Amino acid sequence: MALRNIVKFGDDRLRKKCREVTEFNDKLWVMLDDMYETMKQSDGVGLAAPQIGILRRVVVIDVGEGPIELINPVITGMKGKQREVEGCLSSPNQWGYVERPAKVKVTAFNRYGKEIKVEGTELLARALCHEIDHLNGILFTDLADEMVDPKDIEKDN
Ligand code: CO
Repeated sequence: MALRNIVKFGDDRLRKKCREVTEFNDKLWVMLDDMYETMKQSDGVGLAAPQIGILRRVVVIDVGEGPIELINPVITGMKGKQREVEGCLSSPNQWGYVERPAKVKVTAFNRYGKEIKVEGTELLARALCHEIDHLNGILFTDLADEMVDPKDIEKDN
């Protein structure tokens, strides 16, 4: 496994619509392993392929309940609302309030090309939406209704 460089806000690659994965091969598996390691190294809870410069529909998430790998994910259901502070590994010093669904259902493929279903509430629902947005070139700052001063977050903690 290897750490990859994280693409930062302002880079055009974060604004592209990513293409579907068609081959579930060892190249994909290396990429997934690298994404997970890179995310963990940065204390993130999610990372999308464009954040390492690869414009494919691939996401890794770990909100503390173990790794979730999503290939070609599609949101199939949304319910309710939540509004919480969100950040992004591509913009380490920016935080803002984003409204997201309270509950999200996703259908995707695992690394072997088998269809899987994931349901999330709270942080997982937020992470699913945030990472899938990345695959469509959407950043949390596009959706934030209020940005937060990083100094205020440090004070609260
Ligand atoms: Co992000």
